Amino acid sequence: MKLTLSAAPKADLLFLLFFKGAKLSPAEKKLLGGTAKSVEARFSNKEFEGEEGQMITLFTDGGAFKRVVLVGRGEKGKLIPQATEKLGGQLVAVAKKAKASRIAVNVATEDFSELGYGMVLGAYEFNHYKKADPKASKLEEISFVTEDNKSTKETLKHLDVFMRASDTTRSLVNLCAGDLNTQNLVDEAKKIAKKYKLKITIFDEAKLKKLGCGALVGVGQGATIGARMVLLEYRSKTTAKEPQIAFIGKGIVFDSGGMNLKPTGYIETMKEDMAGSSTVLGTLQAISELKLPGYFLGVMAIAENAISDRAQHPGDVVRAYNGKTIEITNTDAEGRLVLADALAYTEKNFKPKRMVDIATLTGAVTVALGYNITGVMGNDEKWTNEIMDAGKAKHERYWPLPLDEDFMKFTKGEFTDLKNDAKGVRAGTIMGAAFLKEFVEKTPWVHLDIGGTGWAEKPDSTTHYGATGVGLRTFIELAVRYGK
Ligand code: BES
Ligand code: MN
Ligand code: ZN
Repeated sequence: MKLTLSAAPKADLLFLLFFKGAKLSPAEKKLLGGTAKSVEARFSNKEFEGEEGQMITLFTDGGAFKRVVLVGRGEKGKLIPQATEKLGGQLVAVAKKAKASRIAVNVATEDFSELGYGMVLGAYEFNHYKKADPKASKLEEISFVTEDNKSTKETLKHLDVFMRASDTTRSLVNLCAGDLNTQNLVDEAKKIAKKYKLKITIFDEAKLKKLGCGALVGVGQGATIGARMVLLEYRSKTTAKEPQIAFIGKGIVFDSGGMNLKPTGYIETMKEDMAGSSTVLGTLQAISELKLPGYFLGVMAIAENAISDRAQHPGDVVRAYNGKTIEITNTDAEGRLVLADALAYTEKNFKPKRMVDIATLTGAVTVALGYNITGVMGNDEKWTNEIMDAGKAKHERYWPLPLDEDFMKFTKGEFTDLKNDAKGVRAGTIMGAAFLKEFVEKTPWVHLDIGGTGWAEKPDSTTHYGATGVGLRTFIELAVRYGK
């Protein structure tokens, strides 16, 4: 899909957005040409007053547009956050149903980014397993009628890059585990690295064993294809010796739970368990396409949590990269194990200025925050707040949970340094983070638990059924802010 800025586009359908009480501006009159009169007639006979949710379609007598849709946005100043973004998603849905393939939208510069992200998110389709909806059109072009200046050009570029990165991220999550095993995900990372000129390093199971990544290896040992770690490096012409940010993702291609097998009702969507690593891959793709200044690292901790006679047993003991021993008290608490080695390896070998991990780590996070808010925990208040701020700017919702010191004692093992699951503590999401904290020595680090937000069962205009790609916008924004 092509995204353009244009003062005088040609399109099947033009969307004109109005707050309550607004009238046609001179620029809009010019844009509409002969159709301006019939639009104004709708205003004066009160057929259209800009009520939120109101949409009226007018057919033109030719000219640049076949149809014009008047869209009401309600009272200015009364919009909920994200309303403009959600509206963007609605507009593309209307356009598809109306069989339009080229659309234009008149948008104020201050709303451009928000509306644009909504349209891009909403336009995404996953047609790998079935044909595109024959009753809808395929969108080929969106023209934004807005000021053409340095800032809008920049926004357009970001939208365009985000569109492709989001496609990478979401489509990998939506592919079923039968089509995306550990090796396939590594191969996809290789393809992206080649296409976007990222340096890629792959550790296979033998190498991971040699390195001492026993926690990651243990999770993958039940599957035919063992664990992998993928390191992706992007570097502009910078003198930076250490990455400004290391993005680290959980990449469980399927989480059966292992011997602590997940029951029906909990296992069905566990192909989503590599969403974190898929977001990391999309982030590095976008950073490279935007040619951001700086040195950034992406780490994907990949394994299949399978059940077999070779799978890890409850009670097994592994030794992680940092030397700590872990009793596997629950084979289903595998995300923290793969991340443990990824965090420790990254900190020791790359010394990044800051780290952020993203993981479908717990189901418990939905109890606290539901399906639209990501849980945030970490060891550094400043870095935590900066991530929250970037999220706010990009309309991704985060909320901190208290990773207080008293939780740390529950991570301790009986015969071992640590255990991966403690009975009776209840605060499952915090306990996941408390475990991870044992694998970070001194680097500012934040953990994002997307167990509730990575996958959507109840879609809306911008979040379709399946992968949400959550975190991607925030990560790209962080790279923009920290690049140098
Ligand atoms: N991948 C799951 C968490 C999850 C559940 C993500 C539902 C998305 C939707 C994770 O590996 C897991 O199984 N976590 C357990 C941890 C427990 C065994 C300590 C959980 O949340 O129940
Ligand atoms: Mn699990
Ligand atoms: Zn998992």
